[in-house]
Amino acid sequence: MNSEVKNFISENKDRYLSELFDLLRIPSISADSAYNEQTLQTAEAVKESLVNAGVDKAEICKTVGFPVVYAEKIIDPSLPTIVVYGHYDVQPADPLELWDSPAFEPVIKKTDIHPEGAIFARGACDDKGQMFMHVKAFESMIKTNTLPCNVKFMIEGEEEVGSPSLEQFLKDNKEKLAGDVILIADTGMLGNDTPSITTGLRGLSYVEVEVTGPNRDLHSGLYGGAVANPINILNKMIASLQDENNHITIPGFYDDVIELSDEERAEMAKAPFSLDAYKKHLDIDDVHGETGYSTMERNSIRPTLDVNGIWGGYTGEGAKTVIASKAYAKISMRLVPAQDPDKITELFQSHFESIAPKSVKVKVTPHHGGQPYVSPIDTPEYKAASMAMEETFGKKPVPVRSGGSIPIVALFEQVLDMKSILMGFGLDSDAIHSPNEHFGVFNYFKGIETIPMYYKHYVELKK
Ligand code: BES
Ligand code: MN
Ligand code: MN
Repeated sequence: MNSEVKNFISENKDRYLSELFDLLRIPSISADSAYNEQTLQTAEAVKESLVNAGVDKAEICKTVGFPVVYAEKIIDPSLPTIVVYGHYDVQPADPLELWDSPAFEPVIKKTDIHPEGAIFARGACDDKGQMFMHVKAFESMIKTNTLPCNVKFMIEGEEEVGSPSLEQFLKDNKEKLAGDVILIADTGMLGNDTPSITTGLRGLSYVEVEVTGPNRDLHSGLYGGAVANPINILNKMIASLQDENNHITIPGFYDDVIELSDEERAEMAKAPFSLDAYKKHLDIDDVHGETGYSTMERNSIRPTLDVNGIWGGYTGEGAKTVIASKAYAKISMRLVPAQDPDKITELFQSHFESIAPKSVKVKVTPHHGGQPYVSPIDTPEYKAASMAMEETFGKKPVPVRSGGSIPIVALFEQVLDMKSILMGFGLDSDAIHSPNEHFGVFNYFKGIETIPMYYKHYVELKK
């Protein structure tokens, strides 16, 4: 790689780490209104960092929710324009007691997978650390006079709550956001010695259900056995949503699923994966999932239905003999091409209502959703990523479809007519959304080194 940029990065290593630490100290939890001020403060800090890195123009763009930080550096309108997307908001840190060090006090600690050390903090990997790689890569190109094309930054503050304001922002700012490709570092790769590029994201349908039995909580002795217990009923209903093959039973659920050909599945199976290491890492004796599919397939090319939370009744200390009036659950369905989130939500709703016994009432409330995404690999946009990673890792990256979701990516294509490249540097074991989230120091700097290579190859391929 260009040794000038590489040298600049290594000379600025400590500063690049400490500036990320400053960002990680601000708890920008978009889901919790108690942190509104800090989330707004984070937007300001991101804008500052872009100004210091050398953009021509940076602004905080108001939306009905948290603002989008927009910045640009246009060196020549006839050159390609790379649009960088990332998010400055993070997931809530709870349960706090499970963190080995405080979530918003970043520290570097060594782990088995990250012998060079990893940065432990909420947002270290998802997505502040990865978004900031782009800021620092840009700065490194500016300061060494090697930026080969135009850049626009679009850093949002609501990704972790489903990007509710971003669609409108895209529609209102089509011209401002116009470019050739969207480059995103908000996904992972297979391993530090197994680079990979994410070529697909799952969609999402998320619902909350409420089951109501009697009009008040009842004595479980006086009424038990004679009226429906909403918690028992809810559990039966949920259990019936999957059959003995862990196949989802909602009628029509699989209708639009695009099945992969045997060739495509054989190609997928070539990606290195150790089931033993997987089980060991999670401390489980066996995996679980849809019959007929491998673990890699189950968490990428197949749709799922999972309860994310379930509650009701008495959960305090000791025992209280009660039949609760209500029971609740939050349920997510991960979707694959070409399932439509709205259609799936409707199918869920009518099925769930139809399986409820007359002894209870059910209410289904839809939450956010998002469409799945797949990116082709025979394009200059993808090839540039492959060449960039091959250059910095010394190995050609493999294309991998991810199980996660970034709902806005499908809308980038629909509204802005641009493909997204998901060149991420996190690992599945980095515990995103969990206690002790971390991001390898190796990964952070690999990202900062690889991004300028992407710019270089992309501009060359587009000539
Ligand atoms: N960055 C993640 C998504 C991700 C992580 C994709 C790793 C692929 C690999 C993103 O911030 C996220 O958490 N998305 C949510 C959806 C959102 C609507 C809350 C998800 O996937 O649960
Ligand atoms: Mn993310
Ligand atoms: Mn996330």
